[in-house]
Amino acid sequence: MMTSPESEVKIAQMFDKVAPRYDFLNALLSMRQDKRWRKKLVSLCSDHDNASYLDVATGTGDVIAAIGESRPKAKELYGVDISEQMLSLADVKTKSSQFSSKLKFDVMSAEHLEFEDARFDTVSISFGLRNVIDKKKALSEFARVLKPGGKLLILEFFSPDNTLFAHLFQWYFHQILPKIGGLFSDREAYHYLPKSVGSFYSYEELNKVLLELGFEHKRTVSYLFGSCRLVFLSKKCLIEESS
Ligand SMILES: C[S@@+](CC[C@H](N)C(=O)[O-])C[C@H]1O[C@@H](n2cnc3c(N)ncnc32)[C@H](O)[C@@H]1O
Repeated sequence: MMTSPESEVKIAQMFDKVAPRYDFLNALLSMRQDKRWRKKLVSLCSDHDNASYLDVATGTGDVIAAIGESRPKAKELYGVDISEQMLSLADVKTKSSQFSSKLKFDVMSAEHLEFEDARFDTVSISFGLRNVIDKKKALSEFARVLKPGGKLLILEFFSPDNTLFAHLFQWYFHQILPKIGGLFSDREAYHYLPKSVGSFYSYEELNKVLLELGFEHKRTVSYLFGSCRLVFLSKKCLIEESS
């Protein structure tokens, strides 16, 4: 019987184990849809010169690499994750890129971002938030390190709406995905994935927390009948009134 990893160390160990097959399995299990979803995320990032970007739970670095490619005038690009193995693959994939001098990967938890307040123009997290133990703490860290008006992009799986497709998706997610994942990679990790979606915020709950933290909702792009959503927000600019 699979138990959910209860500590950040265990989650990091789990992703260390799946790292070598992660990209291959991602493409296979999502039928290459993951590329399209991440591309959309990148298209919504800040696009002015000298912008700073942070991709949290960056994994093998595809999002931050795509930002680097599409934003040649970026000032700095950061990818952080708790799994050293994921980050070392990200490093290998990007080390000969044109933007490598601006790109830095660091072992760091979403819950404790080691950056000063208001440093970044865009913070992104794709398929990572559900793995974070204290999600609210991580979201408040995103608010802290973003500049006022900065963009937050969250790409994540959610429990789908109650339609026929939703039942199909649930069957795929709970029955097929763990079997294929277990065949090519760490069995335990791919059993944990559907569980982590079940225990994640609903879309409405996530938005409520984000609004409480001072974000303004801009747009949501929904894929596969709401099974996957790209949520785009901005950090509100607080205008001080003098009396
Ligand atoms: C499913 S992968 C997603 C990777 C990548 N963002 C992508 O889109 O392919 C989830 C990642 O979240 C990382 N992670 C889990 N908990 C984390 C935390 N508290 N802080 C930072 N990264 C975390 C894992 O190590 C893993 O690399």
